[in-house]
Formats: sequence, structure tokens, C-alpha cells
Amino acid sequence: MYDIISKEKINSLICDASYNIIVLETVSSTNLYLKELSKDGAPHETVVIADNQTNGRGRPGREFFSPSGTGIYMSILIHPDKTELQPGLLTVAAGVAVCRALESVCSTIPRIKWVNDIFVNGKKVCGVLAESLTNPLQGINSIIVGIGINVTTSSADFPGELSNIAGSVFPENATRNEIIAKVLAEFKMIYNSFDAKSLIEEYKSYLFVLGKKISFNQNGKTFSGIASDINTEGNLIVKLENGETITLKSGEVSLGSENFTE
Ligand code: BTN
Repeated sequence: MYDIISKEKINSLICDASYNIIVLETVSSTNLYLKELSKDGAPHETVVIADNQTNGRGRPGREFFSPSGTGIYMSILIHPDKTELQPGLLTVAAGVAVCRALESVCSTIPRIKWVNDIFVNGKKVCGVLAESLTNPLQGINSIIVGIGINVTTSSADFPGELSNIAGSVFPENATRNEIIAKVLAEFKMIYNSFDAKSLIEEYKSYLFVLGKKISFNQNGKTFSGIASDINTEGNLIVKLENGETITLKSGEVSLGSENFTE
């Protein structure tokens, strides 16, 4: 269902106008745009949403394909008021907020591939890019949580290799405004009553890597092992084949086959 992204519509759906929402037609990257606003003192919970991005950024240094009219590209500025609210846990919070929102609009349960690639029907439909910054004006460390969701981008439109990996949510009856409002409402709920333990438990319930054989690269070497747990900071605990245990704070893991399986 095509809709024009509208601040008024989103605010009316959240039933709470405390987010400072800015809607743009086109921007290079909502994360970069919000970074500039933050330097000028933008308040906590400023949200930039664009209909399309010309330079959408993913991890690590990849592009996030951001065509017009078929996706959600948004960034939320957080001035954390609690020390435990580190980028890692805000990434986890964003992942859970997106999963709760997508679960309410699609017929299947979304799944997370650590750290925060969200899959629906075996295809990646969402990525999260959290970036920290220090604001010299306000003297605080802020975090920008960037969320990109493919809503109705058709598989033929994804460029090259991406068409094998990326997919779209194709919500049954929901518009982009409704999905945005749901994600923002869920994120606010998690943030306002922040409880790392229950957040991690819920995050783990969406993860599809736990108990599976994974591989990852570190310092130019490839390691493999079993993804065994998530710690209280959202890091992945891996039992290596040589018996050692390693804690991964960031990066990318691959499953034996990149195919998603339940
Ligand atoms: C990933 O998949 O590696 C993360 C993708 C994050 C994309 C979002 S879209 C909104 C925000 N602006 C950006 O440039 N990137 C994030």
C-alpha cells in the first residue's frame, strides 16, 4: 500500500508527539543528516525520515539500497540518560522494536541474524546502523540509531547480488506511516522502561544463529564455532572448534549456508 510519509500521520498514530519528527523527500543519508542536526543541538528523540536516500549507509561501509516510495529510512537521535545505554544495547533495542512492529503487520515471525539483520521469509528486510557521536555544544555523547526497512521493494529492483539476499516485508494491510509509528512507539517503550535482561531475552527469542555453526573473520583469519549465547551487552559468545570461547562485540557472522533456516 503506497503512502506519503507524513509527520502528522505518524504523530497521530503514536498518540504522543514527543518525538521531534523531520520528514524529507530525499537525503544522502538520514544518519549523516541527523549527525549534522545533532552538532547544532538537536534534542533527544529527534527523528529524521526520508522517502529515499542517495547514499544510504550500511555496515561495514556498505551501501543500503534506498529507493523512493518502497522503503523506510529513518534515524533516531538518543542522548542516553543511563550509562548502560550503549550503542550495542540500543542496536538490540532497535532490532526488537522492529521485530515487534513487523510481527504485527506480517503473517510470519521476523528473525534476527546477529547483530541486527532482520529477516522475513528467508530474506533480509531490515538493517540497523547505530553510530556514537560526541556533541561539543551539549557536552554529551549521543547515539544515532539508523533503521532501514524494505517495505515493498520488488526483488527485481534490488541491484546485482543483493536480489538474492534482500527482500521486502510486503505487509498485509499496513502503510509505511503505520510501520514507522509502531517501530517508534515500541522503541520508546523499550527505552523508557529499560531492562537489559528482559531485552536480551526477547532479542534471543528472535535470533536464528544460536546453537548453529557460524564462521567469522578476525584480523584476516577465518574462525568457526557454535554461536552459544548473547551476553548482557548484546555481544555474541562463540565456542570455537579448538574449545576456546570468544566474545564478538561487532562484525558479521556467516552460517554454513547463508540461507536462513528455522
Ligand atoms: C546494515 O544493513 O548494515 C545497516 C543498514 C542501515 C540502513 C539505515 S537506513 C537509515 C539510516 N541511514 C543510513 O544511511 N543508514 C541507516
